[in-house]
Amino acid sequence: MSFEVPPDAYTRFMGRYSEPLGALFADAAGVSGGQRVLDVGCGPGALTSHLVARVGVDRVSAVDPSSSFVDGTRARFPGIDARQGVAEDLPYESDSFDVALAQLVVHFMTDADRGVAEMARVTRSDGTVGACVWDLGPNERGPISLLWRMVRELDPDAQDESQLAGVREDELVTLFTNAGLGDIDSSELTVRVAYTSFEEWWEPNTFGIGPAGIYVASLSPERRAALRERCAAELPDGQFELEATAWCALGRS
Ligand SMILES: C[S@@+](CC[C@H](N)C(=O)[O-])C[C@H]1O[C@@H](n2cnc3c(N)ncnc32)[C@H](O)[C@@H]1O
Repeated sequence: MSFEVPPDAYTRFMGRYSEPLGALFADAAGVSGGQRVLDVGCGPGALTSHLVARVGVDRVSAVDPSSSFVDGTRARFPGIDARQGVAEDLPYESDSFDVALAQLVVHFMTDADRGVAEMARVTRSDGTVGACVWDLGPNERGPISLLWRMVRELDPDAQDESQLAGVREDELVTLFTNAGLGDIDSSELTVRVAYTSFEEWWEPNTFGIGPAGIYVASLSPERRAALRERCAAELPDGQFELEATAWCALGRS
């Protein structure tokens, strides 16, 4: 899944969820001073910022296939080791890190088994490998679950994200087990995000980011207006808050 989009647009769309999620994820993984940490699929740096705050920029590496995100991460964290690459073929020597984390990335990997195995390879023995992915399965607890539900009402054949790797309960655990990781711990991470208006929620959905954004951008003006109207009927007027929950798995390499 390509994310060649401006970092600012991503931040307005998903970053408002992934920034607070990153704090919870870094805490769950026990990231602390002295560790060497890898952020796989770093995007514009939502998790990276929390890793840099905990261990310092010199001890964080970040990798992403999107050149706009790699450039954005370098600009945001001067001096960081940010590289263009994919999880399935990580551009690092074996045993380079104490901790390797992937936040909201496993479901976009071309080969999730290989991506997690690569994260285990670059992590030292007894180090920590972690991943979190929104709950986009039947519980529909992701930030874009409401949007996809409204899409399906208008277009039952639309291809949503509910079949992607890792979005259902225990799928991350299975991926971690297959990669030979031990002491696997599974949990949920929940964030709350405030909006001042429906428009603030709706507009970023039209930026063409990720599968949902690409779907919305592909609609005719009439169908997009119908979807917007349906979503507006589901959300309060004025200010509101939304909750989103991610599955989280941590294992020992
Ligand atoms: C939803 S964004 C998450 C970005 C960031 N981790 C965050 O929490 O905001 C998904 C990211 O995964 C990256 N990505 C997609 N396929 C990937 C792959 N095969 N390996 C590594 N990263 C990938 C995308 O470029 C994008 O930056």
